[in-house]
Amino acid sequence: MRILFASSEAYGLVKTGGLADVSASLPAALRRRRQDVRLVLPGYPEACRNLVDATPRPGPEGAPWQLLEGHLPGTRLPVYLVDWPEYFQRAGNPYSASNGMDWPDNAQRFAGFARAIVALARDEAGLDWAPELVHLNDWQTGLVPLLLDPERTGVERPRTVFTIHNLAYQGLFPASTLQDLNLPAKLWHPEALEFHDQLSFMKAALVFADAITTVSPTYAREIQDPASGMGLDGVLRARSEDLHGILNGVDYRDWDPARDRHIATRYSADDLSGKAANKTALQTRMGLEPNPDVPLLGHVGRMVEQKGVDLLHAACTPLLEAGRIQLALVGSGQKDLEHATGALARAYPGRVGVHIGYDEPLAHQIEAGADLFLMPSRFEPCGLNQLYSLRYGTPPVVHATGGLADTVVDATPENLDAGTATGFSFTPDSIAALGAALERALELHAARGDGRWEQLMRNGMTRDFGWNASADAYLALYREQLPRRSRRAKAASAL
Ligand code: ADP
Ligand code: GLC
Repeated sequence: MRILFASSEAYGLVKTGGLADVSASLPAALRRRRQDVRLVLPGYPEACRNLVDATPRPGPEGAPWQLLEGHLPGTRLPVYLVDWPEYFQRAGNPYSASNGMDWPDNAQRFAGFARAIVALARDEAGLDWAPELVHLNDWQTGLVPLLLDPERTGVERPRTVFTIHNLAYQGLFPASTLQDLNLPAKLWHPEALEFHDQLSFMKAALVFADAITTVSPTYAREIQDPASGMGLDGVLRARSEDLHGILNGVDYRDWDPARDRHIATRYSADDLSGKAANKTALQTRMGLEPNPDVPLLGHVGRMVEQKGVDLLHAACTPLLEAGRIQLALVGSGQKDLEHATGALARAYPGRVGVHIGYDEPLAHQIEAGADLFLMPSRFEPCGLNQLYSLRYGTPPVVHATGGLADTVVDATPENLDAGTATGFSFTPDSIAALGAALERALELHAARGDGRWEQLMRNGMTRDFGWNASADAYLALYREQLPRRSRRAKAASAL
């Protein structure tokens, strides 16, 4: 099948979070299934620099953009970057300036990106290639289903699948944006683009895409409920037959302690001996006391409300005070959370190590060097770090929500006996509940002489969260979207 995969990030080119990991590893998994999948991203400076075999190609006649064609680093996956200097050639993050403020013209930038995707989807950019299906990701691509088929006729156009990676980011803009973007005035109503008097890119996709997915089965259920639907639960309920939860996979070529080049010593479920050396290395790097026995708790992530860093601070403070744990954190985001995290490190020198910023090798070193991984997210569509920590023998402590609920099996006595436990989960998302889960974890760790801790580590390390099952699920869903005629033609040509 010819698939155009559109995203605002992809690991290897540009990354701010898990969307990048998925946008690189899912297309790669589809390619291994012999699908003709190609990736399209905005031509941010960093992406242009990282693109392999970069070759310029003209865009459609008269368009203010051209294409940069190449490959995703380390793969043969074809990539098109939309090189639109006015919109994408600027320093800073894909979405915000270095002062943390969103770019004021984000509506124009990502409407521009959407129009470029539509041109590729209609084979108007001289590629001599037209996708049968366009897979869109998050609000930055949200206008594509609408632009491809404004009358919702469904005829002679590629089918669209839209994946919600995070419903908290909706691409909301002032009502006047409708005119600025030259969108038809008749779309200004609550069953289309309007969301409480604002223009919503996310909603446009939820209304107009042929199928919708999100990144775990539990999150797919949660977002149809007013409590977690961020105001879009009604739209999602109306489309519940077209909404599917497909769990993200892990690319174990990047995230496996047996071959990880960022960590001090490699190890595996068969030989755990190297893990201790990673703990020592992490303690040294983060300025922590070199103590092999004290439990070292790790955290990696964007410092935003979602991730529950404030819960983490509050629940860990008494344990730090009592000298019962060490903490290693890397992350960046909201200034207040960054400052609070820095203050914690100053309050407990030698017990808390913090790096404010984005550091890929350090993220791997924390996964490998910590004894426990903390992920008290208030909500979590899927979450990748808990999956990485499972493979690294670093049992995760998670709030039982979204993908965290789908991937971590709580270490209850029954699950420990049955050999299914992989970590610790708690609910609700309160300091007390997190504290209680930490107590359970520390107790099991303290009794590690009895072998149950090592069993817990091994259970997690041997679970398979690779892409095989999920890539098959996407492919099956893509096939269901194709018009019957072309499905029959496919079946005939396969004979
Ligand atoms: P989200 O997409 O909500 O940020 P995920 O758990 O799905 O959460 O993915 C986060 C990804 O970003 C992981 O690959 C994680 O290692 C990485 N990451 C987040 N913050 C940092 C950071 N400060 N330094 C290095 N990697 C980070
Ligand atoms: C989002 C979510 C995260 C998910 C990632 C990739 O950023 O917050 O839970 O794992 O996208 O789908």
